[in-house]
Amino acid sequence: MTLLEERLKGSVRRGSIPVLETKRLVLRAPRLEDAKAIAALANDRRIAENTACIPNPYTLSDAEAFVENANTGDQDAVFVITLREQTIIGACAITPQDQAGELGYWLGVPYWGKGYATEALHAVIDHAFTDLGYAALQAGARVTNPASRRVLEKCGFQWTGVGLYRIRAINSSAPIDRFRLERGIWSALKDWRRARKVTS
Ligand SMILES: CC(C)(COP(=O)(O)OP(=O)(O)OC[C@H]1O[C@@H](n2cnc3c(N)ncnc32)[C@H](O)[C@@H]1OP(=O)(O)O)[C@@H](O)C(=O)NCCC(=O)NCCS
Repeated sequence: MTLLEERLKGSVRRGSIPVLETKRLVLRAPRLEDAKAIAALANDRRIAENTACIPNPYTLSDAEAFVENANTGDQDAVFVITLREQTIIGACAITPQDQAGELGYWLGVPYWGKGYATEALHAVIDHAFTDLGYAALQAGARVTNPASRRVLEKCGFQWTGVGLYRIRAINSSAPIDRFRLERGIWSALKDWRRARKVTS
């Protein structure tokens, strides 16, 4: 494949990433002009130490590389999360792994504790099951990260066990709680939420 074909393939894939809207948020494909805002938020140990791949310190070139590589894999779906007035507050991604979608996410510290992660994940999970056709989703949270665990539980994920995973920012491995959400559970929870809205 020539360089031009490679670039075209990337741009076609980027174009196919939809814009997901929630009550307070917009999720869209990252753009190069987002890199500065992404770097400013992601350059924080509290984020890096709770994710597998985010380095610390996290520089503008790290953010540019993140944007350049986003959505270039055949089945990757990488989003920045913004407020409705377009301020970038974080990012999330679904990547295929072990015949399921692996979910990763982070928010800038000023935006923690407002329900944004749960709201964003609901939209990404709906997209993964409805449009991307996944049969199951998986995610991990460090055993020392109760906020992430709670987000996953609020989205219907169930604990499946503990594993040891490499964390780039600490240059070491750490125990991670693993979670899984099957399509059937997601669908039942959606029906339940819909019914509750109708009757309340
Ligand atoms: C994990 C993270 C995404 C959560 O974002 P958030 O927007 O604050 O999450 P939400 O507000 O939607 O939900 C957080 C939940 O955790 C709970 N929580 C927060 N800190 C907690 C703690 N120390 N102990 C127990 N529960 C806690 C909150 O009360 C809330 O639950 P509730 O709605 O039942 O009250 C954010 O903290 C983050 O980016 N962390 C660093 C990166 C990371 O951990 N990524 C996930 C692993 S890939």
